[in-house]
Amino acid sequence: MPRQLFVTTALPYANGNFHIGHIMEYIQADIWVRYQRMMGSRVHFVCADDAHGAPIMIAAEKAGKTPQQFVADIAAGRKPYLDGFHIGFDNWHSTDGAENHELAQQIYRDLKANGLIATRVIAQFFDPQKNMFLPDRFIKGECPKCGAKDQYGDNCEACGAVYSPTELKNPYSALTGATPELRDSEHYFFKLSDPRCVAFLEKWTQGSHARDQPHLQSEVYNKIKEWLLPDAHGKRDLGDWDISRDAPYFGIEIPDAPGKYFYVWLDAPIGYLAALKNRFIKLAGDAALGAQHFEAFMADPATEQYHFIGKDIITFHTLFWPAMLHFSGRKTPNAIFVHGFLTVNSEKMSKSRGTGLDPLKYLSLGMNPEWLRYYIAAKLNARNEDVEFSPEDFMARVNSDLVGKYINIASRAAGFIAKRFDGQLGAVSADGQTLLNQLRVERASIEQLYESREFAKALRETMLLADRVNEYVDANKPWELAKQAGMEARLHDVCSVCIEAFAVLTSYLKPVLPALAAQVEAFLCIAPLSFGSASQALGAGHRIGNYQHLLQRVDIKQLEALFEAPASVEQASAVAESAAPGGEEIAPTVGAGASSLPPEGAVLALGRPGGEAIAPPIGIEDFSKIDLRIARIVNCEPVQGSTKLLRLTLDAGEGTDPQGQPITRKVFSGIASAYQPQDLIGKLTVLVANLAPRKMKFGLSEGMVLAASHGDEKANPGIYVLEPSKGAQPGLRVR
Ligand code: 2FM
Ligand code: ZN
Repeated sequence: MPRQLFVTTALPYANGNFHIGHIMEYIQADIWVRYQRMMGSRVHFVCADDAHGAPIMIAAEKAGKTPQQFVADIAAGRKPYLDGFHIGFDNWHSTDGAENHELAQQIYRDLKANGLIATRVIAQFFDPQKNMFLPDRFIKGECPKCGAKDQYGDNCEACGAVYSPTELKNPYSALTGATPELRDSEHYFFKLSDPRCVAFLEKWTQGSHARDQPHLQSEVYNKIKEWLLPDAHGKRDLGDWDISRDAPYFGIEIPDAPGKYFYVWLDAPIGYLAALKNRFIKLAGDAALGAQHFEAFMADPATEQYHFIGKDIITFHTLFWPAMLHFSGRKTPNAIFVHGFLTVNSEKMSKSRGTGLDPLKYLSLGMNPEWLRYYIAAKLNARNEDVEFSPEDFMARVNSDLVGKYINIASRAAGFIAKRFDGQLGAVSADGQTLLNQLRVERASIEQLYESREFAKALRETMLLADRVNEYVDANKPWELAKQAGMEARLHDVCSVCIEAFAVLTSYLKPVLPALAAQVEAFLCIAPLSFGSASQALGAGHRIGNYQHLLQRVDIKQLEALFEAPASVEQASAVAESAAPGGEEIAPTVGAGASSLPPEGAVLALGRPGGEAIAPPIGIEDFSKIDLRIARIVNCEPVQGSTKLLRLTLDAGEGTDPQGQPITRKVFSGIASAYQPQDLIGKLTVLVANLAPRKMKFGLSEGMVLAASHGDEKANPGIYVLEPSKGAQPGLRVR
């Protein structure tokens, strides 16, 4: 019977695009899944957007969208990344899908029936202006230890202290600036401290599954036992888990608890099951039938369940999630596979911003996605160690190993087979056979390395085999055989060995390089390679196709372009320097700005941020001709006879007139579809202060305010007037 697997990666928050850390995790899981399929396993590989929670609700509100629309817009941007890096999820769903609502409520009911839900009243900070309880990250104040200002509610970035939000001095709401009040609220808890849970987790975290593999890597178990096991005084860190949040909250309603929602981390992992259930429904083409298939699949003891995650979310996946599943009468994961972080040039990645390596920019520069897959695989092992991306190392591995060692084998032999032997392979003599046997005998060990996620070792083994083949080529010198009379048969033999070896090596690399392997299969005129095919020769008489160049080398210029700061950042820093006290106006950096943009065609192919390609580069001298100033909207009114325009009265800090009245300007702006006049009064915005006054049908417009909108306004309506950060004053120049 083939193995049947259910494999997931962590569900990304639907509040931003993927960064390279997501792509690394997806590549790791995708390689493992492709390996499993090559071994004959049946795999369901699924993921979804993690849609719920206060941050997404607030981001959606800021963007003027419903949370559902906000999440749908983020989801719509996922495809270019996944397709671009050959990441083959079988389904992409959302934790806001109907399946997840239903499953989360059912799991909760099961836990409750099992006596594992409790309620307790807790005091929490409440924003009286926004009328909501504040999550820790939306409370700021002065650090109780070092006094640093503007620190988050849970830890201080200045001194590293960890505390609870109620300890902050002079706390304020990061949403409104209001002073939060402590208010009581009833919360729902999952009783992880129940002796049944503790006993289960102590056993499960140290346990193994049917394949005699541990549920957890040893370093992961060592980490969580700090929470799980009692200290010298018999106390445990693992307490009951607060799983409820009060309305307003974007999430799933708790049954029989009006105004209460599941905390996002309760329903997020249930999203794994929901994404699988949704896949079965799609496959069956019928909700009831799909649901039945899902239940049967999950009830089958043969089903294996694996989750790939990063080391920052271990607690949720190794304690809360197995306990939720077990005590709701469900199957627990076979294993949680934890990886480390990706660092770029030794810099740690920020979870929201990622690193300087932008995956879409990588693709838009025409860089081959399989270079990155190969490089990441060449650095990954089964432990949760960090992975460092170094441009020099990347170039060396791709150019020297992948192209120099592996591709080279085909390119050295294929031309002779085509030109001299009509594309047909010949007989292989004893020395060649010995070499091929050496390659084939490694199959079991390479399979084992993929199975245990030791990808770096699998690739190292494969490249050592490629070295042997290249030694054989160097010893036999086909290019010289080709010139010698009477060496025709030997030339045919040597080149045939090379092509046979190339097929074996390709099967070993196929989980990492799926698109390249497909090209090789087409060129060799063979059926899709599996690990099993490594042991079968193509054989004398097999006809191969014409060799076409299979893989380019990395060009250093591509890497330079990849890591160059975007033009706007460079220009911004140039302006900042020019404004330094005592500093001279620095020369405009036209060249630097221009060269930092990828080739135009490449940008147009994928990078149309906001629905339009970035405009051609300009120099800093062009930018500095535009005088942008902070202005306060002192009045705003509709314009009689226009449905589009609003008339703004702006104070740009230009002083007072002889009567002592502030000097203001009248500006017409086409924002009536997006704003009610009264909502803008009192706000700060950005004014183009030196735009020549323009006579309009309704009067003179003395400037222009800045607003953002999509390139295709019909398909993506929405206009967003720019607003500076807190503290800006009318008259300040924007540089
Ligand atoms: O840390 C994160 O990005 C979470 N969105 C991961 C959720 S994984 C699973 F539980 F859904
Ligand atoms: Zn501090």
